[in-house]
Amino acid sequence: MATGQCKVVVGCQWGDEGKGKIVDVLAEDVDVIARYQGGANAGHTVHVGEEEFILHQIPSGIIHPGKRCLLGNGVVLDVLQFFEEYDALAERGIDLLGRIGVSERAHLLLPYHKALDRAFEDQAAEKIGTTRRGIGPAYEAKAGRRGLRVADLRGGERLEERVQEGLERARERIGGGSNGLEGDLRGSLQLGERLSSLATDTGFELTEALRAGKRVLLEGAQGTALDLDHGTYPFVTSSNTTASGAGTGVGIGPTMIDSVVGVVKAYTTRVGNGPLPSSLEPGMDQRIRELGGEFGATTGRPRRCGWFDAVLARYAARVNGLTGIAVTKLDVLDTIGEISIAVAYSTKDGGSTKEFPADTWSLESVQPHYETHPGWQTDTTRAKTLADLPKNARAYLNRIEELTGAPITMVSVGTERTQIIRV
Ligand code: IMP
Repeated sequence: MATGQCKVVVGCQWGDEGKGKIVDVLAEDVDVIARYQGGANAGHTVHVGEEEFILHQIPSGIIHPGKRCLLGNGVVLDVLQFFEEYDALAERGIDLLGRIGVSERAHLLLPYHKALDRAFEDQAAEKIGTTRRGIGPAYEAKAGRRGLRVADLRGGERLEERVQEGLERARERIGGGSNGLEGDLRGSLQLGERLSSLATDTGFELTEALRAGKRVLLEGAQGTALDLDHGTYPFVTSSNTTASGAGTGVGIGPTMIDSVVGVVKAYTTRVGNGPLPSSLEPGMDQRIRELGGEFGATTGRPRRCGWFDAVLARYAARVNGLTGIAVTKLDVLDTIGEISIAVAYSTKDGGSTKEFPADTWSLESVQPHYETHPGWQTDTTRAKTLADLPKNARAYLNRIEELTGAPITMVSVGTERTQIIRV
C-alpha cells in the first residue's frame, strides 16, 4: 500500500500554459518531481526574485533546495543540452549532488535526430513547425526499435554498432545535411559515463518513495492539444503529453496516481503550425502577445493568441481526468475591455458542437461561438485570495470553471512565485 501522494500536472492547451510556474509552486509541498515525456522542445521559465531560470529538460523543481528531480523513461534525452543545463545550474550555485536521476530506460536524443528533424521540416510540403530539437526522429527511432537508451551506454561494441547504424540511416536520408554530425555525436557519447552515473530505475524509485509516504509530482511538458493521440494530429508533438502518459512515462501504474491538475492560461496561445480556432484578429493578437510576453521559451517564435477556448478545455478535462485546474496569467487580461470565451464550434453541415473534433482539417475552418464578458480593468497582480479579485474577474473564473467542469484550485496573477491564489 502506498501512503504517499502522487499528483500529475498537465497542460490543457497547446503548451506554454505556465506549467513551470505551477510546478514551481507545487514543488514546495513535494519530495520528488519527475518529468514524464518530451525533451528539449519544452521550455519552462521560472522566476525567483530577480533571477530567471529557463529549463528545457531538468524539472523546474530543481530550483527548490533538497528536492529530488527525475527524468522518466518517457523522456527523450538530449545529452549535450542536458549537461549544458546541468552545468549552468551548478554555476549559479544550485546544489545538484544526488538530486538528479535519469531513467535507465530513457531514450537518447542524438545529434542525427536533430539533423533529421531539421531536414524533414525543411523538405516537408506541409510543415509541422517543430522546435527542430529532434523530438519526432528520436521517438520514431524508439517506436522503430532502433533507439539507444541510457542503459545502453554501458554497451561497448553493441553501442558503437547502433550509433553507426543510426548515423548511416541519417546520412542516407539527408546526405550533405549530415556533415559535422560525427563530432557532436562523439561529444554526446563522451558524456555517456557522466550520464550513467545519474541513471536510476524511476519506476522503482517512485514506488518506494510513495510507499514510504512521500509526495511526488509528475510533470508533463507541452499540452493536451499537442498529444500524439489526443491532440490536433499531425500538428502535435511525438509523445503522450496527457495525464495517462505520466504512469507510462515514469514506470508506475495508474492506481498510484491520486490527482491531476490541469493548467490553462486565461486565454489561448499556440506556437508552430496547425489550427487555433479561437484565434484573435491581428490588433488584439498583437496586444495580448505583448502583454503576455508570448514568445517561445525554446525558439523565441511569436505565439499566436486566442480567446479562452472552453471546447478544448472541457475536452482536456475529460481526456486527463482532471481533479482540479490552475488558471494562469489572469493578470494579462487586466486591461482588456471585453473578453470572449469560445463555448462551441459551428460545423460544416451548419450545426454546432461542444465537443473537440478529431478532424483537424475541419478544425481549420470552424467558427467558434463566443460569449463575451466585461473586463475588470483593475490590477490583479497583488491579489492573494479570490475575494481580492474584482467582481468581473471572479465571474470570468466562475464561467471557466463551469464550462470546463473541474474546480479551480489555483490562479496565477504574475510571474513571481508569490503571485498565486490558492483556492
Ligand atoms: P516538436 O515537439 O518539436 O516535434 O514540435 C511539434 C509541435 O509541438 C510544434 O507545433 C511545436 O511548436 C510544438 N511544441 C513542442 N514543444 C512545445 C512547448 O514546449 N510549448 C509549445 N509548443 C510546443
